[in-house]
Amino acid sequence: MSNSRLCLLSIMSILSLLITTTTNLVAAQGCRPDQTETLKRFKNEFTFSSSCSDDADFLRGVTCDNVTGAVTMLKLPSGCLRGTLRDNSSLFELSHLRYLNLSFNDFASSPLPSSFGQLHNLEVLLLSSNGFLGQVPSSIRNLTKLTQLQLSHNKLTGDLTLLLQNLTSLVALDVSSNEFYGTIPSFLFTLSSLSYFDLSENHLSGSLQTPFSLPNLRVLRLSYLNITHQLDLRIFSSLKSLSYLDLSGISLAPTSMFSDIDFTKNLNVLILLECNISKFPRFVRSLKNLEYLNLSHNRIKGNVPDWLWSLPRLTTLYLFNNSFTGFEGSLDHVLANSPVQVLDMSYNSFRGSFPNPPRFIINLSAWNNSFTGEIPLSTCNRTFLDVLDLSYNNFTGLLPPCLGNMNVVTLRKNKLEGSIPDVFYIGASTQTLDVGYNQLTGKLPRSLRNCSLLRFLSVDDNRISDSFPFWLKALPSLKVLTLRSNRFHGPISPPDGPGPLAFPKLQILEISQNRFTGSLPKNYFENWSATSLKPNDEEKYIGNYTRTQIIGQPKSSFEGNLGLCGLPLEESCFTENTPSIEEPDEEEDGGVLKWRAVAIGYGPGVLFGLAIGYVVALYKPEWFIKNYIQNRLLGIGRL
Ligand SMILES: *[C@@H]1O[C@H](CO)[C@@H](O)[C@H](O)[C@H]1NC(C)=O
Ligand SMILES: *[C@@H]1O[C@H](CO)[C@@H](O)[C@H](O)[C@H]1NC(C)=O
Ligand SMILES: *[C@@H]1O[C@H](CO)[C@@H](O)[C@H](O)[C@H]1NC(C)=O
Ligand SMILES: *[C@@H]1O[C@H](CO)[C@@H](O)[C@H](O)[C@H]1NC(C)=O
Ligand SMILES: *[C@@H]1O[C@H](CO)[C@@H](O)[C@H](O)[C@H]1NC(C)=O
Ligand SMILES: *[C@@H]1O[C@H](CO)[C@@H](O)[C@H](O)[C@H]1NC(C)=O
Ligand SMILES: *[C@@H]1O[C@H](CO)[C@@H](O)[C@H](O)[C@H]1NC(C)=O
Ligand SMILES: *[C@@H]1O[C@H](CO)[C@@H](O)[C@H](O)[C@H]1NC(C)=O
Ligand SMILES: *[C@@H]1O[C@H](CO)[C@@H](O)[C@H](O)[C@H]1NC(C)=O
Ligand SMILES: *[C@@H]1O[C@H](CO)[C@@H](O)[C@H](O)[C@H]1NC(C)=O
Ligand SMILES: *[C@@H]1O[C@H](CO)[C@@H](O)[C@H](O)[C@H]1NC(C)=O
Ligand SMILES: *[C@@H]1O[C@H](CO)[C@@H](O)[C@H](O)[C@H]1NC(C)=O
Repeated sequence: MSNSRLCLLSIMSILSLLITTTTNLVAAQGCRPDQTETLKRFKNEFTFSSSCSDDADFLRGVTCDNVTGAVTMLKLPSGCLRGTLRDNSSLFELSHLRYLNLSFNDFASSPLPSSFGQLHNLEVLLLSSNGFLGQVPSSIRNLTKLTQLQLSHNKLTGDLTLLLQNLTSLVALDVSSNEFYGTIPSFLFTLSSLSYFDLSENHLSGSLQTPFSLPNLRVLRLSYLNITHQLDLRIFSSLKSLSYLDLSGISLAPTSMFSDIDFTKNLNVLILLECNISKFPRFVRSLKNLEYLNLSHNRIKGNVPDWLWSLPRLTTLYLFNNSFTGFEGSLDHVLANSPVQVLDMSYNSFRGSFPNPPRFIINLSAWNNSFTGEIPLSTCNRTFLDVLDLSYNNFTGLLPPCLGNMNVVTLRKNKLEGSIPDVFYIGASTQTLDVGYNQLTGKLPRSLRNCSLLRFLSVDDNRISDSFPFWLKALPSLKVLTLRSNRFHGPISPPDGPGPLAFPKLQILEISQNRFTGSLPKNYFENWSATSLKPNDEEKYIGNYTRTQIIGQPKSSFEGNLGLCGLPLEESCFTENTPSIEEPDEEEDGGVLKWRAVAIGYGPGVLFGLAIGYVVALYKPEWFIKNYIQNRLLGIGRL
C-alpha cells in the first residue's frame, strides 16, 4: 500500500534523476520526412489500442536532432502497441536513436529481436514489461554506449555475464523478474559508474564475496536470487552512497545480526524479507536516516528493541510473520513518541497489553497475536489513523468510541463486549467495519446509516438482538453485509410492501442462524442482479479484505444445496444442482427462512482464493440462478 508506493517512488525518483543527468538529448522540433515515414511504418506493424490510436499521440514522444532531423529519442506511451516486434521492423532503421522507451507495451511473447544490436547509438534502452520471451541475442553486446538498460518483468534468459561484459558505461541496470541464469556478473561490482543495480528475481547463482567498488551505487536489489550460501552483510558496508538495499530471500549469516556494521548513513530503505534472521539486527540502530524497514517473514524472537522507535525518520515498519513476544521499554511511551506511520506487527506472538500507538500512525496492523486487555483509548486520539486491524487477538472490554473516524476497522475474533457505539456521524469515513466473532450485544447502531462510504459490514457471531436492518438499504456502496449467528429476529420481508429491496450494491448477504421469519417477494433481488460487477472490481475489492472469513463451513455442509459449493469454485457446482420448479419449498415451511450465502474463506494472512459471495435463496428463484449466479461464475472463472 502506501509503503510499497514509497519504495516505488524512491526507485522512480532515482531513475528519473539518472535520466536527466545521463542523457543530454537534443530536443528539437522537426524530423526529416523520411524519419516520420519510418515511424509511421513502425506504428502500422502493430495493433493499436483504442486509447492511443491517433498519430499525434504517438509522435508526441518523438524527438529529432535539430541539425540532421534524425530521430534520436522515442518514448512510446504505455499499453499502445500490441503484436510481434520483428527483426525486420522499421524501428531498426532509426539508427540514430539514442533513447528508446518501449516499456509496458505487449510484444506478444516474441523473442527480443537481434536487430537491437544495430541501434549502436543507444544510450538508454527501456524494455520493461514487454512480454519478451527467450534468449537475449548476443548482438546486445554491440550497445556499448548504453548507460541505462531496463529489461525487467519479461521472460528473458541468457548468461548475463556474457551479455553485459562490454557494457561498461552502465549507470542503471534493471534485469529483475526474468529467467537469467549463470553466475552473478561480478565484474559489474567494479563498475564505478553504476548507480542503480537490480538483479532480483532471477536464477542467478554463485557468490557475492567480491569486494565491491561501487562508489556511486544508490540502489541495490539482489532479492530472490539463487544464492545458497549465507551472506555476510558486512560486505555491503563499503557502499558509501547506498540508499536502498533489498536482499529478500537471501539467507543472512547470524554473525552479521550481532555486529555493529558500519553501514552508510545514507540508507533510507532496507528490505530483508525472508532472510532467515533470528535476532533483531543490531546495526539498524545506527541507521539514522532509515525511513522504511521490512523484516517480515523472518524468525525474530523476543522483544522489539526500544531504540527502534527512536530512529528519527522511520515512517514504515513491517515486522509481519516473526516470533516477537513483546516490547522493550514502557508501553505508555516507547511507541507513542516514534515517527512511525505505517506499522505491521501482525502474525507474531505478542502478548499482554497493547502499547499506546505512535502519535502519527496511519495504518496499524497487529492481527493474529495474543494481545489481551483493552484496546488503548489513545488509539482514538490518533488523528491520522485510517486503518486499524487488531483482529485475531484476545482483546476484551468495549469497542473504541471512534469507529467512524477510520476507513477500515477490523476487530474480528476477539472477546469484545458491549454494543457497537452509536457514533457514526454524517460524513464518517468508515468503509469497512468487521467486528465479527466477539461478544457484542445490543442493537446495530442506527447511525451506521450516516456511513455513505460503507462497503463492508460484518457483525457475525455475536449476540446482537435486533430486527433486519432495512434502514441500511439506502447505503449506496454497501457490498457485504453479514449478520450470521446473532439474535436477529422478525420479518425479512420489506415493511413497505413487495417492491424490490434497495441495497443497490450488495453482493454478499449472510443472515443464517438468526430468527428471521417471513417470505420473500420474487423481485427481491432485482436490483442486485443489475449491478453485477466486473470481475476485476471484485478482485480489487475483496483483495482489501483478504483476512475476513465470511463463512467457514466445510464443503460438506453445502452439498445438495443449490449454489453452495466449496473451494475451488467450479461451474459444475452450479449446474448439477439447479432445481426445477417442482422442487418442494421445504425451507419456507414453518415460516422460517434459511438463507445461506457463500464466500470462500481464507487462512489468516494468506490469500488462498477470492471471496466471492452470492446470496442464495433456497426456493425456486430460477431467474436468479440464470441471470445472476451463472453470470457471476463465468466472470469468476476468468479471474
Ligand atoms: C540544437 O539544440 C541545441 C541544444 O538544445 C542547441 O544548443 C543548438 O543551438 C541547436 N542548434 C540549432 C541549429 O538550432
Ligand atoms: C517508459 O515508458 C513508460 C510508459 O510510458 C513509463 O511508464 C516509464 O516511466 C518510462 N520509463 C522511464 C524511465 O521514463
Ligand atoms: C518481415 O518479416 C516477416 C516474416 O518474418 C514478413 O512477413 C514481413 O513481410 C516482413 N516485413 C517487412 C517490412 O519486410
Ligand atoms: C553486432 O553484433 C553482431 C553479433 O554480435 C555482429 O555480428 C555485428 O557485426 C554487430 N554489428 C555492429 C554494427 O557492430
Ligand atoms: C567486447 O570487449 C572485448 C574486449 O574487452 C572485445 O575483444 C570484444 O570485441 C568486444 N565485443 C563486442 C561485441 O564489442
Ligand atoms: C540453483 O543453483 C543450483 C546450483 O548452485 C542449481 O542446482 C539449481 O538448479 C538452481 N536453482 C534454480 C531455481 O535456478
Ligand atoms: C537459517 O539459519 C539457521 C541458523 O540460524 C541455519 O541452521 C539454517 O541453515 C539457515 N537456513 C538457511 C536456508 O540458510
Ligand atoms: C512466515 O515466514 C516463513 C519463512 O520464514 C514462511 O515459510 C511462512 O510461509 C510465512 N508464513 C506466512 C503466513 O506468511
Ligand atoms: C514488506 O512486507 C510486507 C509483508 O509484511 C509486504 O506486504 C510488502 O510488500 C513488503 N514490502 C516490500 C517493499 O518488500
Ligand atoms: C485467547 O485466550 C484463550 C484462553 O483464554 C486461549 O485459549 C486462546 O488461545 C487465546 N487466543 C489467542 C489468539 O491468543
Ligand atoms: C489526546 O491528545 C491530547 C493532545 O494531543 C492529550 O492532551 C491527551 O492527553 C490525549 N488523550 C489520551 C487519552 O491520550
Ligand atoms: C482497495 O485498496 C486500494 C489500495 O488501498 C484502493 O485503491 C482501492 O480503492 C480499494 N478498493 C476498494 C473497493 O475499497
